[in-house]
Formats: sequence, structure tokens, C-alpha cells
Amino acid sequence: MSAASITKQDAELRIQPLSAHIGAEIHGVDLTRPLSAAQIADIRAALLKWRVVFFREQFLNHEQHIAFSAQFGELTVGHPVFGHVDGHPQIYSISKFRKATRFEGQSLLRPWTGWHTDVTAAVNPPFASILRGVTIPPYGGDTQWTNLVIAYDRLSEPVRRFVDGLRGVHRFAPPAGATGTSAFASAVEQHVLVSEHPLVRVHPETGERALYVSPGFLKHIVGVTPRESQALLELLWEHVTRPEFTVRFKWEAGSIAFWDNRTTAHLAPTDIFDLDFDRQLYRTTLVGDVPVGPDGRASVSIEGSPVGAAAAVALN
Ligand code: SIN
Repeated sequence: MSAASITKQDAELRIQPLSAHIGAEIHGVDLTRPLSAAQIADIRAALLKWRVVFFREQFLNHEQHIAFSAQFGELTVGHPVFGHVDGHPQIYSISKFRKATRFEGQSLLRPWTGWHTDVTAAVNPPFASILRGVTIPPYGGDTQWTNLVIAYDRLSEPVRRFVDGLRGVHRFAPPAGATGTSAFASAVEQHVLVSEHPLVRVHPETGERALYVSPGFLKHIVGVTPRESQALLELLWEHVTRPEFTVRFKWEAGSIAFWDNRTTAHLAPTDIFDLDFDRQLYRTTLVGDVPVGPDGRASVSIEGSPVGAAAAVALN
């Protein structure tokens, strides 16, 4: 496929789509330097269109990662539950063993296990996440994203109308059957975060509807029986992870993935635990707004605080 070109006076970004519905690589920009207003606008437009954009050979340090991110919004603290890198309140370390040595003995592994939208247990999940690859295995360790807008559009019309009126409860909880996770479990217990969100989220910039069903965090649908909730969620989770809605990204050192966390879910790799290679990435997230459903109702917090800006946290 040939790359579409966007020509500006001060820059030329080349946008190379990677699949039909989601994901594009952006070439022709140096992220270690301040971006022009035109470059920021073009990257934002590509993000809205392609949901996740990727950059190659951008060898940023922590300060440059923060500076690049800050051109698109206010940075949150690295992670509201799991903290941040020492000396860098805005950066979350995605190390190979950050949650556990490995997840063993899970009672129920299903095709959507592990898929999630970042921090949807908070009432204002981040608007975007920016993930930087530093130590990358020679093979294995790919990340996948899915487009929740196309997933919504591809439901039948009666089911779209049905889910438009539903809401669900999202919470952080250790994965069932996870082993070696005492630090993980105690961090979750000390930072309880629970929120109710609409199952369909109206995008604040584009007005599009996204099927907002973060498989890792959405625990039940409000106002229906437990069995109804389970059956409906399994149907929706199976649907949002259909391969034709997804893109799979092969990391290299210096790769950056920047995704719209309002319209995507993603899957971190687990094949890295079958390999001896190390894997280290770092993530920033940008402060998000409170989701609103098609009926105009906003999400509500059940427990815990909104995800604030890192600057405010650093002052505490
Ligand atoms: C994440 O969930 O943000 C991390 C994805 C990855 O490790 O590839």
C-alpha cells in the first residue's frame, strides 16, 4: 500500500495505514524536537482517524517522552494504582514482570482475557496513552489494539439500540488465579478504584459512538441479573476482539505507540513469558474527561479519585 502524504509548509508527515480499520505508522517527524502547530494538528487528526499511531526510530529519554506527550495534553501520574518511575512522576514502567512472575493456573482463559482500555476503573480514564519501546525481544512481545467504534458500528441495529442504554461497573482486581502477585494485590487493595460508565461512549471530539466494554475492568452490567450480565458481556467482548477490528504491532527499540484510549482496547503480550528475553517499555497517559453515554448521562465514581495531573500529585 502506498503511503498517503500530508504536505505542510514546515513538515511532511507520511501516514502509512497498517490495517483496514485501525493503526497507522507516521513517518517524517523527529519527536525529540518540539513539534510545529501543523505537525501537532496532523498527528491529532491521524490519531482520531486511525485510533493508534506508531512512530519508528524515536530514541527518546524520559524527559523527551514527557515533552512530546505534553504537546497533546496534561500528563497524569504514571499510574494511579501502581505508581511511577523514581524521579519521573509522569512515567509508568512497563517491565516484563511488573505484575507477577507470570500468571499461572488461571481458571478461565478466554479469547478476550487481558484485553483492556487503560484505567477505566477511574471515572475519567486517560484520553490517550503513549508507550515507548526501549528493550524489545528479537521476536515475540507484539501488542494488539482494537477499534471500539467499528465494533459498535458492526453490531446489528437492534443490539446497538439495546446497548446504548446500558451502563457497567469497572474496577481494578488482580487477575483470577494470578500467582506471585502479593505486591500487585496490595497495591490494588490500597488504591480501590471503581466507576460506573456507559457501555456506549460518545466521543467528545468526533461524536462517534464506541463500544466501551474494557474486558479487563468491566465486571458487570448495571440493573440486570448476574447471568444476563455474564452472557451479554461475553457476547460483546467476543465481538470487540474480532480480528478484522484489530492491528498487531511489532516493536523495535525506539518505537512509540500513541493511542486514543476513548475508542480502543489493547492486549499486552503474554508470549514473552515463554521466552527468556527481557522487555521494557515506558508509558505516559494524558488526563481524560468523564465519559458520556448516548443519553447524555455521564459516568459516576463509586470509589476512588479521578486521575489527576502528575504535577498536582508531585506537589503533594
Ligand atoms: C499496556 O497495557 O499499556 C502495555 C502494553 C504492552 O505491554 O505491550
